[in-house]
Amino acid sequence: MVKPSTDRVTVCYLQELKKQKQKISALTAYDYPVARLLDEAGVDIILVGDSLGMVVLGYETTLPVTMEEMIHHTKAVTRARKRAMVIGDMPYLSFHLSLRDSIENAARFIKEGGADGVKLEGASPARLKLVEALVEAEIPVMGHVGLTPQSVRKIGGFRVQGKEAGQAEAIFRGALALEKAGAFSVVLESVPAELAAEITSALKIPTIGIGAGPHCDGQILVVNDMLGLTADYLPRFVKKYADLSGVILTAVKNYVADVGCGSYPEEVHCYHLKKENAGLARKVRQKVAGKRRQPGS
Ligand code: KIV
Repeated sequence: MVKPSTDRVTVCYLQELKKQKQKISALTAYDYPVARLLDEAGVDIILVGDSLGMVVLGYETTLPVTMEEMIHHTKAVTRARKRAMVIGDMPYLSFHLSLRDSIENAARFIKEGGADGVKLEGASPARLKLVEALVEAEIPVMGHVGLTPQSVRKIGGFRVQGKEAGQAEAIFRGALALEKAGAFSVVLESVPAELAAEITSALKIPTIGIGAGPHCDGQILVVNDMLGLTADYLPRFVKKYADLSGVILTAVKNYVADVGCGSYPEEVHCYHLKKENAGLARKVRQKVAGKRRQPGS
């Protein structure tokens, strides 16, 4: 029995979990308070996903997300975590140009962001070379195949991938190649459960599924989706564990009503001058605003 551990989650620990057939829990986070709660709740991996762009920054896709935005949010997350492994998601165009730029960008997640590794989408020959180079530069890499949201323009929408033979084979080969290139785990997104099960049993490294059925070594969800903070359409694989939108809406409506009718703040929410200083506020007013007639005098 490997779990539970209070030490920092490491690549070796995750691989041990796979060997022992214990499931890995992962969620995204983008800020300090949520990351603190996920860590306290025992989540193994916190991914600072580029889903940030859609669920926090209000973009339609993940494509506009920048390195600066990712580093800013990764720093907030790593300040909060004690145990979880933190992975920074490389945004669109941060790993597509030269090998050197890509390694420098990945290293920023480690050096500036305090992350333990990076995730990048795809398994093209150039991507595999990059994974090898990053591992050579001592940067742990999480791969990502199946639905890769940064390819949304090419794919033509956020659709399930690998339902037919050609695509299924490409996803399978991609996952195997990422393992060979040195990735320490691979995300399988929106693929049939049967395909994810076969990939999971063929790989030595852990698979982390999102919309990929129950046979992956671990599961990941976008935290805003599972907490009920996402207003838009949710894919069918999302299980809503809370309705924070409802909770927040009710709280803020109550606040607006209380402020409107003056029932907030109450006496318990106020600071007061000491009795012996009771006249201080009036004296300050007279000094600052001049000796004008006080109402009622
Ligand atoms: O950006 C993200 O949140 C992700 C996960 C959905 C795997 O890539």
